[in-house]
Amino acid sequence: MNSREPILRVQDLTTGYGDLVVVRDLSVDVFPGEIAVLLGRNGAGKTSSLRAISGLNPVLSGSVRLNDADLAKVPAPSRVRMGLSYVEEGKQVFHKLTVEQNLLMGGYSLPIGRREIEGDIERIFTLFPILKAKRRDRANSLSGGQQQMLAIGQALMARPKVLLLDEPSGGLAPVIVQEVFNTVNTLKENGLAVLLVEQAVEASLQIADSVTVLDVGHTVLTSRTDDRKELLDAVKEAYMGHSQS
Ligand SMILES: Nc1ncnc2c1ncn2[C@@H]1O[C@H](COP(=O)(O)OP(=O)(O)OP(=O)(O)O)[C@@H](O)[C@H]1O
Ligand SMILES: [Mg+2]
Repeated sequence: MNSREPILRVQDLTTGYGDLVVVRDLSVDVFPGEIAVLLGRNGAGKTSSLRAISGLNPVLSGSVRLNDADLAKVPAPSRVRMGLSYVEEGKQVFHKLTVEQNLLMGGYSLPIGRREIEGDIERIFTLFPILKAKRRDRANSLSGGQQQMLAIGQALMARPKVLLLDEPSGGLAPVIVQEVFNTVNTLKENGLAVLLVEQAVEASLQIADSVTVLDVGHTVLTSRTDDRKELLDAVKEAYMGHSQS
């Protein structure tokens, strides 16, 4: 599935901390039903970019548009209500709450009734059956992979149109990474737009529709192709051609 217009358009985004600029002139378009992957080594500026897109870090120049609306003056919580959900790095769930309570927290800002919320929770249980089996367990009793699934489920409770995912593979065994990525792929097939930040190059390229590589805040590759081998070769070259730090 591919629509002509990007739902999320990031243009020439520059962001940083105080006087320190850590990402310069990043441009990424994310389309409904597609996964845009943002790659780069440690410290490349991936998280800083997602934080700026979601309203948590300042946009020093450039723009972020959602469905053609300029988000410059829109605070982070309103961006969530407009359809932009951010799953932060490191599985941010409420450890003392149960799986079900965590999911409820994700939907709290929606102006919908209990029955609809319960319907949303059931849909998330269909995506992640293991969460259904553990619905009354505390989040801190879940494995790392299950917590990552819960963090994604919580973000989905806000009914996003665009999902920003920050290194969902972090700290997970390859087989679990595959499981998480398969679900992300299902979400895309259901029409969601996903901006996936990763260090797991090969696994993320398996589900990518487009790719951007950052190197110390600079874009060193932007590419979209259906040929995965070509994409992987281009990414490897981008990684090798630049700083080895
Ligand atoms: N709160 C902060 N204050 C100052 N500098 C920061 C802060 N957070 C990150 N940085 C710096 O910004 C740069 C980009 O960091 P960022 O966390 O965005 O990278 P990343 O690509 O997400 O890395 P990783 O793969 O390790 O998560 C780094 O040089 C980092 O040291
Ligand atoms: Mg990061």
